This record gives sequence, structure tokens and C-alpha cells, in this order.
Amino acid sequence: MTRLDSRIRPSDEAFIANAAAYETLRSRIRSAREAALLGGGREAQARQAEKGKLPPRQRLSLLLDPGTAFLEIGQIAGHDVYDHAVPSAGIVTGIGIVAGHAVAVFANDSTVKGGTYYPLTLKKHLRTQQIAREQRLPCLYLVDSGGVYLPLQEELFPDETHFGRIFRNIAEMSAMGLPQVAAVMGSCTAGGAYIPAMCDETVIVRGNGSIFLGGPQLVRAATGVIVDAETLGGADVHTRDSGVADHYATSDGDAIRILREIVARNGIGHPPSPPRTPLPPRFDPAELPGIICANPREQIPAREILARLLDDSEFVEYRARFGTSILCGTGHVGGYPVGVLINDGVLFSESAQKATNFIEICVQRQIPLLFLHNISGFMVGADYEAGGIAKHGAKMVNAAVCARVPKFSILIGGSYGAGNLAMCGRAIGPQFMAMWPNAKTSVVGGEQAATVLALIRAEQLARQGKDFPPGEEEEFKRPIRDSYERQGQALYVAARMWVDAIVDPVDTREWLALGLALASTVPVSETRFGIFRM
Ligand code: COA
Repeated sequence: MTRLDSRIRPSDEAFIANAAAYETLRSRIRSAREAALLGGGREAQARQAEKGKLPPRQRLSLLLDPGTAFLEIGQIAGHDVYDHAVPSAGIVTGIGIVAGHAVAVFANDSTVKGGTYYPLTLKKHLRTQQIAREQRLPCLYLVDSGGVYLPLQEELFPDETHFGRIFRNIAEMSAMGLPQVAAVMGSCTAGGAYIPAMCDETVIVRGNGSIFLGGPQLVRAATGVIVDAETLGGADVHTRDSGVADHYATSDGDAIRILREIVARNGIGHPPSPPRTPLPPRFDPAELPGIICANPREQIPAREILARLLDDSEFVEYRARFGTSILCGTGHVGGYPVGVLINDGVLFSESAQKATNFIEICVQRQIPLLFLHNISGFMVGADYEAGGIAKHGAKMVNAAVCARVPKFSILIGGSYGAGNLAMCGRAIGPQFMAMWPNAKTSVVGGEQAATVLALIRAEQLARQGKDFPPGEEEEFKRPIRDSYERQGQALYVAARMWVDAIVDPVDTREWLALGLALASTVPVSETRFGIFRM
């Protein structure tokens, strides 16, 4: 066992410069968060308030146990994605604690285009359902939505992972014994009506909650009959006549009280206390921004990061002298054991083999895995190809995919190409994935992409007996470089739900401890690795 030390002092010149540069990154994230928290804005909220409706975040703050942490998923989803603002993609989702039980919550925001589903609303809803399924959590749907955002129906309705997947998930999770509960607090039209109708138990709010396959406008158009929403599908009809809902609530607050009672009766599993007393690191996590080089080309010192993330800065390193461009070892976060893999340079064959062995060990000992990405990729060159770097990297990917222990992936620096995959990037299936404000990700770096494409162009021109005209090579490269730079940024990535959250370095331990607590309630299933090419 090693207690990690630190050579960096907050009075160092570089530390001060790095910390100052980090504040600029943070302030960009802060403004995006503020816009997300405001939802559809004060005017739209005032309109909802006139009807006696609370904004979704207020509904959640009444629903969740006071003082408990909320692990929000996709807070800035939708940021700057569409040609108009869609804050938080029009839905607030996450994992929280209700009556002592961990639950997944989904709260539509009717101040954002009537709470309708954009492609990213759907993606966020499905991602949170996936987390609920994996973490075996009950789901609470606070429904207040006009259904599909009709102008984008082709991206929302017909395909396998489109709107219908919400209902498939509800049915499958209900079949798994995970309570599915809805509170209808606003509109719930057409396909959306199946959310409460498919749930195990449904609450509906008098006056505001409505459930119908065809709304008043459609009934009038189809049959000529004029009927108001409450008569067509309000709380009275559905709790007395149709049986589509079970509980009649007199207000948002009353519905939330009923929801809390349902969870208290049916919630499954309390998050247990950690197996070891949590200890703070010996070096302050608030120092992390000061040790992340403002120049992304410079290496982030891996041990300095771990010294500020792990309990008591304690790290039991695995094969410290072998494959040194990746550090593997065990430690604790918030009292929960964790097997850490953190890059400390480019990946070589030896580092990939070491990481694969380490993953096998964690699987056998049922230790959750934490991948901290700071990786430009695998080493290239004839000697490395001849040494089989492709097969060694493939083993690491295989191990990351198949490991059936909980997997956490955090981008703390760059995360590129095959390095991203080997470090359990999004496509590989980590249970939770986050990104620091300074982190970046793309298939290769912008400069490399521009250079490769410029070389291909130069070869095409050479076949025609031509050269790049003077100055045009740079003109050719600049837009490629710029678009890579823009698309790799944390805000761009998180707005598209390629990660679950942007987490500040200072908040990382709390985020991880919450995820580890949740994951610790789930029985670990047996791992079978695919064939490792030796
Ligand atoms: N698709 C696209 N836009 C929609 C929409 C939908 N399904 N439903 C509502 N909107 C838009 C409105 O055009 C309006 O946009 P604007 O702010 O740019 O003018 C905004 O959402 C708010 O709608 P509004 O009707 O003013 O708000 P409200 O709170 O009074 O009512 C609804 C909200 C959802 C009850 C109501 O708009 C409605 O019934 N929508 C139709 C629902 C429907 O039939 N869905 C079927 C799809 S499955």
C-alpha cells in the first residue's frame, strides 16, 4: 500500500496560471447550467403557476428527501443544439432518494415547448431508464408533456430506439419487479398517454392532469363534438370511470405526497453505508485545477490526480514497474473500494496487457472499475504494429466490454480514438460517464485529422500532376481543425448526451461516491470474457 505524495504546491507559478485558466472553463459551464436551471423562462413559468402548477425542479425538491444528493443526468442536454433554446432538453432526470429509497425520476418541463419530446429529450429519457434498469431502481415519471415534438417526428417515432422504446422499457422493468409509477401533473396526450397507462400505479392531479389518446382538438376535428380536457380525460374520469389512474390528487403537492407513500411501501433496497469509513484525500481536491496544465499538450500528472481523488490518498498499485504509461491499482472513494485505471502517457502493448490483467483481477474480486481518461491513443509505428499492439489493445477493449462489475468512466483530459474505447468510452458501456470541464474527445485530435486529410488531398493532386497552391493547404486544414476543436469540448459533448454529466474536479468524489453507493446494491453477475487474442 502506498500513500501518494504530491510535489505540487499551490504557490507554484504554473499552479497559479493553471488554476486561473480553469476558471474561464468553469464560467462557460456555469452559464450553460444557469440557462438549464431556468427552464423555459420566467414568463412561461408564470403561465404554469397561474394554473397552480410547479416547475419540475420544484416538484423534485419536494419529492426527494431533504438534504440528500441528486445525481442529475444530462443537465445541459440540448444546450445550443437546436435553432431555439431547449433547456435541459425539456426534461429533468436523475437518481435521487425518496423516503430513504434510491429511485430514478423523470420530470417533464412544460415551460419548454409544452414539455414535448425532442430527439435529445428522448435520448435523455432512455439513458436514465437504462441506468434505472442496470441499477435496479424504481422509476417515477412526473408527466407534463405534449408528447412528440411534431416537426421532428422522423427522428422520434419510427425507429428502434425512438419514442416506443420508453414503453418497452416500462413493460420490461415492471416485469423485472422494478416499480413503475406515474404522477400525471399536466398534459399527457396521444402516445404519451401510455406512460401512465403502462405504469404499475398512477396518480393524477385534479384540474391539470389529463390523459387521452386524442385531445379536444382532435375529437372536434374527427367527430364534431366539443369537449373540454377535464371531461375528456381528467382526474375524475380516470380514477372513477376508466381505471387508467389509481389515485386522485388535489394538487401537485398532494400528488407528490402520494408518490412518496407509494415509494415508502414499494421501494426496493436502501443504499447501504460504505464498507469502510470514508476519509478525505491527504491533498485537497480543490487543488485539482491547478495541476491540470492549461496547455492540453502537456501531460496531466496521474499520481497527483489520484492523490486528490482517493480516500486518504491511499493507492495499492498493480505492477508499478511494468507498462508504466497506465497506472492501475485499488483504492477507495467515499469508503467504497474501486479499481482505478488512469493514463500516464500513450498506450503501449505492455500497458494494454497490464490493464487487461488488472480488469480480470477486479472482476474476480468484484471491485468496481474507474477509468480516468487522459489518452491520445495507442502508440503507432512499424515496430509496434509488428509487436501486435492491435491485438493487445483489442484485449483491453474486450475486458472493458465484458467486465460485469460496475464501470465508471471519467474524461479528465483528452480521450481519443482507440484509447477512448480501451478506457471504456461511451460505446463500451460504462454504467456512469462524466467529463471534466477541461476534457476533450474526438476520434483523433483536430491537428492530426487536418494533416491526414491534407496528405490525402496532396496525393490526389499529385496524381493529377499538381501541388497544393501556395497558402491553400492551411486554408484546407483550418476548418477541419476548428470543427474538431468545437465538437470535442465538454459543453458540445454533454449537450448531446455523449456523457451523463460535466462534473467539476472538486465535485468528482461526491459524484463517484453516490454512483458507487447505488452500484453496491446491485448483485454482480458472472463475467465471461470474449476470446483474448494472445
Ligand atoms: N409539437 C410541437 N410543438 C408543440 C407541441 C407538439 N406536440 N405541443 C405544443 N407545442 C408548442 C406550441 O406550439 C407552443 O410553441 P410556442 O411557444 O413556440 O408558441 C409551445 O409548445 C407551448 O404550447 P401551448 O399550447 O402554448 O402551451 P400550453 O401549456 O397551453 O399547452 C399542451 C401545452 C401540450 C397541452 C398543448 O400545446 C397541446 O395540447 N399540444 C398538442 C399535444 C399533442 O396533440 N401531441 C400529440 C403528439 S404525440
